[in-house]
Amino acid sequence: MKKSIVIISLAVLVVITAFVAYAGNPETSPKVIPYESVFKHMPWAAGGDVRYHITIHKPYKKWAKWPGKGEMYKGKEPHGAFLTTYVNEIALDSINKAKSMADNSIIVKENYETNKQLAAVTVMYKVKGYNPDSNNWFWAKYGPEFNILAEGKVEDCMKCHASVKDNDYIFTGKVTGK
Ligand code: HEC
Repeated sequence: MKKSIVIISLAVLVVITAFVAYAGNPETSPKVIPYESVFKHMPWAAGGDVRYHITIHKPYKKWAKWPGKGEMYKGKEPHGAFLTTYVNEIALDSINKAKSMADNSIIVKENYETNKQLAAVTVMYKVKGYNPDSNNWFWAKYGPEFNILAEGKVEDCMKCHASVKDNDYIFTGKVTGK
């Protein structure tokens, strides 16, 4: 009887020791990415991740507006009667330097109807290596509730914006040529 207790105890000890050795070893322990390190990074080129970035992580309403454009300036088709356009710090720096938009630039444009109701939010986000044929822009369109209406290499967006390809696909102001 006593002997079996000793054997069982030894067996348990061996198992625990093995587990501690395994889990405590950085080579074999499960890799958990610390939340803070994800936080520091730019979003993936995906509608949901970009939405998280621009609404919760770095709320776009706190960003600068497009230089020289105020709130609710007049827009053209197809975007809306009134527009407010926000740029992240990297985009702002690129616009000021006018040497085309740097990687990680994000432009967020609110599109309002004639009655000043928010109709959609459209985003351009430059992601290194994402789509070299079209200057690496990731495109997204959200509804007023931030539901995803379009995302990715959106043909429709790219086709029209390609008419200003020489200006890095940007209509709102000159961002190249300095
Ligand atoms: C038929 C042409 C056309 C289509 C299609 C189009 N856009 Fe635009 N876009 C414009 C014009 C013109 C502007 C300049 C603002 C204005 O006056 O409306 C603009 C401006 C923008 C801007 C501000 C930065 C810039 O380029 O000036 C963003 C962001 C944007 N569009 C995103 C999108 C997304 C995302 C789509 C697709 C879901 C899209 N656009 C589809 C014509 C178009």
